[in-house]
Amino acid sequence: MIELKDVTKRFNLKGSAAKKSKIFNAVNQINLTWRRGEFISVVGESGCGKSTLAKVIAGLTDASEGAISLDREPVHLRSQKERTKWAKTVQVVPQDPYAALNPVRKIRSSLADAFLYHKLVSRHELSHKMEELLEFVGLNARETLDKYPHQLSGGQRQRLVIARALSVNPDFLIADESVSMMDVSLRVEILDYLKRVSKERNLGLLFITHDFRVARYISITGKIAVMYLGHIVEFGQTDEILRNPMHPYTQSLISAVPLIAGRERRVEEVLPKSFEIGTLDERSIGCPFAARCPFAQADCLEQRPKLDSVTSYHQVACHYATARKMLVNE
Ligand SMILES: Nc1ncnc2c1ncn2[C@@H]1O[C@H](COP(=O)(O)OP(=O)(O)OP(=O)(O)O)[C@@H](O)[C@H]1O
Ligand code: SF4
Ligand SMILES: [Mg+2]
Repeated sequence: MIELKDVTKRFNLKGSAAKKSKIFNAVNQINLTWRRGEFISVVGESGCGKSTLAKVIAGLTDASEGAISLDREPVHLRSQKERTKWAKTVQVVPQDPYAALNPVRKIRSSLADAFLYHKLVSRHELSHKMEELLEFVGLNARETLDKYPHQLSGGQRQRLVIARALSVNPDFLIADESVSMMDVSLRVEILDYLKRVSKERNLGLLFITHDFRVARYISITGKIAVMYLGHIVEFGQTDEILRNPMHPYTQSLISAVPLIAGRERRVEEVLPKSFEIGTLDERSIGCPFAARCPFAQADCLEQRPKLDSVTSYHQVACHYATARKMLVNE
């Protein structure tokens, strides 16, 4: 089990002569528990911090504050040795598979690196292991290994980066917008594939997307975390979040999705006041959604709502979520 406790990642946007520099938290005090075998989708608009969160969890960038633990033991990523060990626990399937593969190296050599770097197989076992893994992700090894990345289709490249992530036999896999650039039929194929592989290997799967329909498809028996400007504003079982969203931001996203099959009743239609997502200054103290929220009150600008439990399987960060729900249901 991986646990994040108050994890924050801060960036300093250096300004020019005319513009002041700005410090902001791309990821802000995230608390999350993620178990082996558990599927969690992280949903939110572009720029809300999804990839930054993925990189912090995978140890590809350091958190500015907060702690990560594995099975209740603190995870320290101070040395290369500690990072290499962590990479065997958590792997990321990157957002852009083409950019993640070296264009001048054959697949054989890119894939071999992953195995050899982590000393997972001896040289004489290498070919056999690579073939086995490629077949496992549905690629014909003989046809694939001696090609360059540009000679593969989008779907084949996607499978390849999944294979590369699986080569170290991780316990947890993060897939960052892994199907966003694909057409619908391929998208379903890759999603089914990721689900199957994760189930077979009992992997924890953290699936990052901006599309609730994809989140539902991947983690129907799992959970959804909704992110807004670096914060998790709503979290809970997928079914519950889709049927009963309580945060105005989640409601605005879900009411904008034409039809989510399985949603038993219509959620309240919520239109944000503006469509601009903006950024949040590090010093801001109020609700991150206040500038766009049609229900904002004066205290929303002064007090940041905490992610509180509404039930044992649903948490929301909004001062007025419960009161509004009672009004709507009256
Ligand atoms: N290395 C960096 N330096 C400064 N700012 C950064 C850096 N990386 C990300 N950011 C900023 O942090 C915020 C979150 O970025 P991130 O890439 O995590 O968003 P995202 O939710 O993955 O977006 P998308 O859906 O477009 O992939 C953005 O405002 C982005 O510009
Ligand atoms: S706390 Fe206030 S501003 Fe934030 S989502 Fe709730 S009602 Fe809107
Ligand atoms: Mg991203």
